[in-house]
Amino acid sequence: MNKNNILEDLYQSYFQSDTSYSRVTSSHWKVVGKQTVTRKTDGSFDLHGLGFGHRISSNIFSQLCHIPELILVKELLSKFPEYSDAEGFGRRIARKQSFMFGYDCLRQSLAASYIKRSLEDADIKRICVIGDGYGYTGALLKSLWPDAQIIEVNLGRTLMFDVDYIHKVFPTASLSLATKASEIQSNSDFLFLAAEQYEWLQGSSINLFVNISSMQEMSLDIINNYLSLMRSSSIKNPFFYCCNRVEKQLPDGEVVLFEQYGWSLDDMILDDELCPWYKQYPASLPPFWRSFDGPIRHRLVRLAN
Ligand SMILES: C[S@@+](CC[C@H](N)C(=O)[O-])C[C@H]1O[C@@H](n2cnc3c(N)ncnc32)[C@H](O)[C@@H]1O
Repeated sequence: MNKNNILEDLYQSYFQSDTSYSRVTSSHWKVVGKQTVTRKTDGSFDLHGLGFGHRISSNIFSQLCHIPELILVKELLSKFPEYSDAEGFGRRIARKQSFMFGYDCLRQSLAASYIKRSLEDADIKRICVIGDGYGYTGALLKSLWPDAQIIEVNLGRTLMFDVDYIHKVFPTASLSLATKASEIQSNSDFLFLAAEQYEWLQGSSINLFVNISSMQEMSLDIINNYLSLMRSSSIKNPFFYCCNRVEKQLPDGEVVLFEQYGWSLDDMILDDELCPWYKQYPASLPPFWRSFDGPIRHRLVRLAN
């Protein structure tokens, strides 16, 4: 499918036919997430998002305003020499998306480098990113595993952004949108699946699942459904990299705890700690190092299935 057809399909389904919030949209996303999508006269789409990533536009004015953050990003990167490759591929992808390599790009690039290094010897053919946003994590993983298929799962409305921004990085890659359960078997380079149909992941042959800062904003029942779907992979003991807040309260009062995600005692935990590059974030105005609202933990695990 070409990019425009996928965008048109998603636009019709999630902005035109149904304007209500879907059953997989948590109270957080009802309050915080904003996707403004307008159709231009030539039929293409103008996308503006809020709440799913702090991106610094690469225009000169924005660059000047963010000089302190960009300098501090360099400082933080120097603390992780073992993942120094993150800068090269992370910057290349950010440039193609017309963004600066700011902190949001840095932390995802470090995560991608860490995952690749940890799974050096694993045979990874299909990777599923749940809750990306600008297709950045998906694009990073594709550049590290060029032969693997990337499956992007996101709320139908945000998925339009993933499609558009992945296309900017890989303009010649084959893309497809799952419109029925059987299409999850497609072998295109990138496969997009609206979270509204996340059950279609059931029994798919995915080797690695990645979730960065998005389960923390879902309700526990949705998180646990995702965990069950991951365990249903036809691949024995699929990998899961999970990087999320230890605890977060959603606007409806639900408190979501990392510890309560649907883990099993039979899971093989390869790594589990507070995420070393996700402790403070740099800002362009004082105080230049700021704390998150709570600690963020990352875990690399082989899920029992
Ligand atoms: C805070 S953003 C994180 C984006 C990116 N992973 C990052 O680290 O910057 C959370 C993402 O989760 C997505 N999301 C929210 N609910 C979801 C659901 N039920 N299934 C899949 N993705 C979801 C949002 O659309 C958004 O892209």
